[in-house]
Amino acid sequence: MKVLVVISSSNANGLTAACGEAARQGVVDGKSPARVINLNEFNILRCAECDNGWGPCLTEHRCRLEDDFSQIQDMFEAAEGFVLVTPVYFGDASETFKAFFDRLRRCEATKKNGKKSIVANKPAVCIAAAGGSGHGVIHCLGEMERLVQRLSAEAFDYIPITQRTREYQIETIHDGLVAMCTPPPVEQTLPLSARRRSRSGRRSKRRIGRRRTPKDS
Ligand SMILES: Cc1cc2nc3c(=O)[nH]c(=O)nc-3n(C[C@H](O)[C@H](O)[C@H](O)COP(=O)(O)O)c2cc1C
Repeated sequence: MKVLVVISSSNANGLTAACGEAARQGVVDGKSPARVINLNEFNILRCAECDNGWGPCLTEHRCRLEDDFSQIQDMFEAAEGFVLVTPVYFGDASETFKAFFDRLRRCEATKKNGKKSIVANKPAVCIAAAGGSGHGVIHCLGEMERLVQRLSAEAFDYIPITQRTREYQIETIHDGLVAMCTPPPVEQTLPLSARRRSRSGRRSKRRIGRRRTPKDS
């Protein structure tokens, strides 16, 4: 699975960057190719709310502004899974994150009549990286959840991380991406009837193998 890891922090050595690196490593360990981009390194204008509200985002699903937006939009189209990482600013995603995703939402959430969002049904992991207080980290993830739903992507996980939880949450991010990139075990792809048969077989084996307690003897 080709995974696009999108971070959005002006701090090249901060928590957001560390989360992006853990995600990248998880994708690689899950035997998949990863591409990491930092939105802050691109020229992304804020939405111009063209023509009293709607521009070509509504009808042609593209943005009229001339900057790096469409280049990143193409990267989303080419990817098969995503990791979105933002620092938590005022309990919300960073200004750069919002500037980009406000525009992507306009272009992709407006597709209908058989047209699908370029991220439809593709799995996404959302990560909110906060400071010491962690205030607003859940609100920030809530906003990311709304975004993922609007874009019709498939939420794989939402991960909060703060300076205090850094050590173990970095591992969670890594392991989460390994899991996202690893195909489910064959059993999960079997039809329900076959899964039931396989489960009941396992249960009876477990009963047979149950350890004897003092009461049993
Ligand atoms: C403008 C601004 C607002 C912030 N607001 C919050 C906040 O609401 N809650 C919080 O826990 N941390 C807040 N922080 C701290 C950052 O989330 C924290 O330092 C995070 O690690 C920043 O990401 P970075 O390490 O990539 O720079 C804020 C930091 C800045 C610069």
